[in-house]
Amino acid sequence: MAESRPKACIHLPLAKDLAERVEAACEARHLRFGAPREELLAALADVEGLLISNQVYVDESVYDAGPRLRVVSGFGVGYDRFDVDGATRRGIAICNTPDVVTVPVADMTIGLIIALSRRLFQNEAYSRSGGWARREPPPAAGFDLAGKTLGVIGFGRIGTEVTRRAQPFGVRVVFNDLFEEPPADAPRIPYRPLDALLGEADIVTLHVDLNPTSYHLIGARELGLMKPTAYLINTSRGPVVDRPALTAALRESRVAGAALDVLEKEPPDPDEPLLAFPNLLSFPHIGTATTETRRAMAELCVSNLLAVLEREPPPACVNPEVLG
Ligand code: 8YV
Repeated sequence: MAESRPKACIHLPLAKDLAERVEAACEARHLRFGAPREELLAALADVEGLLISNQVYVDESVYDAGPRLRVVSGFGVGYDRFDVDGATRRGIAICNTPDVVTVPVADMTIGLIIALSRRLFQNEAYSRSGGWARREPPPAAGFDLAGKTLGVIGFGRIGTEVTRRAQPFGVRVVFNDLFEEPPADAPRIPYRPLDALLGEADIVTLHVDLNPTSYHLIGARELGLMKPTAYLINTSRGPVVDRPALTAALRESRVAGAALDVLEKEPPDPDEPLLAFPNLLSFPHIGTATTETRRAMAELCVSNLLAVLEREPPPACVNPEVLG
């Protein structure tokens, strides 16, 4: 008798060809994006695979609802909303989409560095709102990048690519991480303890993943160590920065400004105070938002799902010990 095909729940809109790839390999149940959690839990009763955004919390309630689950394939490199230990205990593989997100996030970070240094958004607003036409005084001039110091906190894949892109601008780059020696394939830049980096950098950029040690890594004390002329960039995870502490630092001009692609609460409340500062650039978590990257992420996510269901090694798994 033919073996029955594995069942999978697809909780992400997929391009037609990718949906067809999934359907060729398994019995797929598509959940509409944004479906309430009860619908998600109810859909898991008999499935072995779940393909899902990494913005959704995947915890014991998901594992309890899906007793046959063997793989949770997350769309995104970050897996801070997934309970990996709980999954490992139950033999469930947690997969993610590293590598394909590295370049777009590094590119976005460089975009933010240039936007801050040349006050691009303030100048654009000045021009668009008619300030220039009305001969109003323009925004203050920006600053050269050459000769400035960029402090990269988190010298992994993305931090390394940001460094490679910043160096041709004549920027001096220093890094902080849990290790002090740059990885073999990374630029040979100097390590700094966190406090020293914060005091030295003209721009601080965050590229750590979110975990208990990086939660609120940048709080009031750390912001207090930064130069009042320095800028903070966060394209990693919102909770790495203590939101009220940054709000206070901006209000009291203890830092020159910030650019955030991520916030502690996403989407933010309409009255989020951070969004009101003219020297804060805020973006709706678009580090990977290019057509090519989103496609590559979806392809990898599908490959991860199908590999585990077919008992093959998936291209990217964060708890490979469960694969036996
Ligand atoms: C978003 C990301 O998750 O890869 C990650 O971890 O933060 C982003 O790619 C993606 O936009 C899905 O919401």
